[in-house]
Amino acid sequence: MSINRRGFLGSAIAASLATGLNAQGLNAQDKPPGGAHASANPASDNPFGPAKRPIIISANNGVNYLDDAFAFLKSGGDTLDAALRVVKGPEDDPNDDTVGLGGLPNEEGVVELDACCMHGPTRRAGSVGGVRNIKNVSLVSKAVMEHTGHVMLVGEGAERFAVAVGFPRENLLTERSRKIWLLWKEYHSTDDWWGPGLADPQWKPPSPTTSPQSELWQQRIQRLEERAGQLGIEPEFRMAAVRRVLFPPSGTIHCSALNDKGEISGCTTTSGLAYKLPGRLGDSPIIGAGCYTDQDVGSAGATGSGEENIKVAGAHTIIENMRRGMSPLEAGMDALKRIARNYNNDMTKLNFIDMTYYILRKDGAYSGVSLWEGYSKQHLHKIAVHDGTRRSEATVPLFRGISNEFPPFPVAMPKELTKDSEYAK
Ligand code: GLY
Repeated sequence: MSINRRGFLGSAIAASLATGLNAQGLNAQDKPPGGAHASANPASDNPFGPAKRPIIISANNGVNYLDDAFAFLKSGGDTLDAALRVVKGPEDDPNDDTVGLGGLPNEEGVVELDACCMHGPTRRAGSVGGVRNIKNVSLVSKAVMEHTGHVMLVGEGAERFAVAVGFPRENLLTERSRKIWLLWKEYHSTDDWWGPGLADPQWKPPSPTTSPQSELWQQRIQRLEERAGQLGIEPEFRMAAVRRVLFPPSGTIHCSALNDKGEISGCTTTSGLAYKLPGRLGDSPIIGAGCYTDQDVGSAGATGSGEENIKVAGAHTIIENMRRGMSPLEAGMDALKRIARNYNNDMTKLNFIDMTYYILRKDGAYSGVSLWEGYSKQHLHKIAVHDGTRRSEATVPLFRGISNEFPPFPVAMPKELTKDSEYAK
């Protein structure tokens, strides 16, 4: 028996909202739990010393690509090209299923990618959305910026443009991502993104569990795992695949780079929300939401729930906040509070939202901020930084505690599926 997402959300089953969640609404600026690198006076608070240039910041899935990009930037390379070197890494990696090659597909099994970039020194921008069959959409967004009089191309037109300027068409759906999608399709296709979402005023989280449903869910997970085996998903990846079916991920990478002359650029790229409706664009290709760079002020970008970030024009909001004198940390916190305000600070809904901002000011001060401390206690949100020393630092959260999976899980979760299991992300 399959359970429809809207059905089970509205039903009387379920999930304790927040095992381990302790949403106190603390402003991290008042009491940052870590990474005191970006308070009102970042130059004096940075544990690595005063703000430095050159510097590159990125989402943590870019950390392994920072050395090469930093060397390139230091040797005089362009700031946008340095940032693109970082995000190209996950785009090329078939095992990163949130970006580029191997990204999880839309509900029809087709990978659709989004990206945008801004070049501070020349004050130009480029963007592409819903692009199929082209792996390095971050570079395509740069090509739109350089080789057209437009800023944004989407869908088939963007794909044809990419091919015209020399990008190869290739199948982006890896065998592993195809099998995960098939698993979702077979067992979860009524549990999709159709119907009113979290922002709907009528939306209610599920209420406490009862054992019959719990048994049903245990059986359902067992069937999913068995079917994953029949589909040929490697044993060690099966529960990770089941997690991706039950809790569609929306990973992304953002990177901003600043050189010693004070030139600054940024870019963001993603495969977007797994099993999304075809044509859905998140925040990543939206200049001002997923990324924004102003040569006079700084650069910012986002990972997390695209729908929420679009509504607060997050990256642009942050840059305008810094223009008016806020520190990177204050600017990011303000954007996060706007997301909370959009839900009237209702923690039963905010628990299900995940958002992280990566912020770089023109003087080299930076901050990573997030709505919650992390995705789990073992997977805290981090910002990757290279300013001569490569490192990952904890972001500063607006709320203490960890975010919840969406959609809500209606019963106590089997150990293998918990966010701290070896199969999580
Ligand atoms: N932040 C990526 C997306 O929502 O598409």
